[in-house]
Amino acid sequence: MKVLGIESTAHTFGVAVVQDQEPYILSDERAEYVPEKGGIHPREASLYFMKVAPKVIHKSLKASGVNASNVDGIAVALGPGLGPCLRVGATIARALAVYLGKPLIPVNHAVAHIEVGRLITGVKDPLIIYLSGGNTMIAAYSGGRYRVLGETLDIALGNFMDVFVREVGLAPPYVVGGVHQLDRCAEEGKVLLKLPYVVKGQDVSFSGLLTASLRLYRQGRYSLEDICYSVREVAYSAVVEVAERALAHTGKTEMLLIGGVAASKYLREKFEALSRQRGVRLAVVPPKYSVDNGVMIAWTGILMFKHGVTIKPEHAYVKQRWRLDQVDIPWL
Ligand code: FE2
Repeated sequence: MKVLGIESTAHTFGVAVVQDQEPYILSDERAEYVPEKGGIHPREASLYFMKVAPKVIHKSLKASGVNASNVDGIAVALGPGLGPCLRVGATIARALAVYLGKPLIPVNHAVAHIEVGRLITGVKDPLIIYLSGGNTMIAAYSGGRYRVLGETLDIALGNFMDVFVREVGLAPPYVVGGVHQLDRCAEEGKVLLKLPYVVKGQDVSFSGLLTASLRLYRQGRYSLEDICYSVREVAYSAVVEVAERALAHTGKTEMLLIGGVAASKYLREKFEALSRQRGVRLAVVPPKYSVDNGVMIAWTGILMFKHGVTIKPEHAYVKQRWRLDQVDIPWL
């Protein structure tokens, strides 16, 4: 079985063809929208997607060696994500499904991050730590769905890191040589400054930390390196704390670190320490597949299609706030 998957939830327009047996990934083409300054502007990203879409689809099909008429289904990320960006992928997927007469498979982007992580690392039933620009979530499978055990009450960890480094003049670019500017700057810091550490029950919050750390920066009394060091320590520690509690409650024996922030070496070290302490296996999705891509959508499309989950094109609306725990997971 072969499925073509389309990802367009945020800054990446990705198209991949994946099959249900080795070597799984037949093609993986991506085009990334990089704003000239500031954060991602949804409408501009969507215009960029419209421009590059035909080329990316064509390249992906060609690289896979599969004729469009021979794929078994078209999978598309219908959410969660930015409305204008989602609509580009959804429109193209609907059109392709109708034109080729293929089933359309509605994929949840968060589920897809988890499923590609399970495919690549081989973990079976892990505690999921999903940290990206748009998500901060601790989740685990239970009774037919991935249940959210803890999440951010305001902004996501990756978004927090991006805004902070931008406001203090370290970015863009946000990531240099695979290292986030916050990690880069924090390595030079030594003094742990007092900042608000917010964990409420199983949830975390970063907006107060953002306000406080920027205030500290503007006061000009401390070095930027020490502020970065302190900010990072507080933010990462909060996530590790809720992950540890979730591990204790669920009794899972594996942890899966997914999302763009998983690329942070320092964060990984913290989770490695936790996994040693608790005697659980830690799996980290390599950067190539922890960022957004079409492979994760196509692969999840295969799992869904095998369990009879498809959608009529006329019902395939985008869902900007489609939560992970709203999706039935019949394959686990
Ligand atoms: Fe993502």
